Amino acid sequence: MIAADIRDALNDQINAEQCAAQTYLAMSADLERRGFRGFAAWLRIQSAEEQEHATKLIGIVTARGADLRLAAIPAPAGNHSGPLSVFEEVLKLEIANTARIHALFARARAAGDFATEIALQWYVSEQVEEEATVQNVLDRLRAVGDQGGAVWYLDKEMGKRGQA
Ligand code: FEO
Repeated sequence: MIAADIRDALNDQINAEQCAAQTYLAMSADLERRGFRGFAAWLRIQSAEEQEHATKLIGIVTARGADLRLAAIPAPAGNHSGPLSVFEEVLKLEIANTARIHALFARARAAGDFATEIALQWYVSEQVEEEATVQNVLDRLRAVGDQGGAVWYLDKEMGKRGQA
C-alpha cells in the first residue's frame, strides 16, 4: 500500500518527466531546423531518456498497486535563439527536476515508505549525472558562443552521442 500523497507526488513526477521529454523533443526540432544536427540528435536521445524515466516511475506506481494518473502534457515554450539559450534552459530544467526528486525522496523517507525511497535513489544519482553533463555542454557553449566555426565543431561532437 502506498500513501495517497506519495502516490500523487509520484504521478506528478511522471508528468514532469514527460514534460521534459516533450520539451527536449521541441528543442531538438528547433535546433535541427537551424542546421545544428548534432545538438538536435543529442536532445532527441535525451528526450527518449526522459520518457524512460517516466516509464520507470510508472512501473514503481503500478508495482505498488497504486493508481496511475497520467496528466496532460502542455505544449513546450519555444523562442530559442540557438544552442546556447537552449542549453541554458536545459540546465534550469534539470536543476528544477533535481529539487523535485529531492523533495519526493524526503517525503518518502519522512513517511517511512522505504520501497519508494529505495526506488528513488536511482533518480537522485541520475540527476547528479544529468546536471554535470549539461553543465559541461553549457560551459563549452559559453566558451565558443553561438557563432563561428567552434560551435559547428561542438555540434559534430554532440552528434556522437548514441553512436557506438
Ligand atoms: Fe529525468 Fe533529466 O531528468
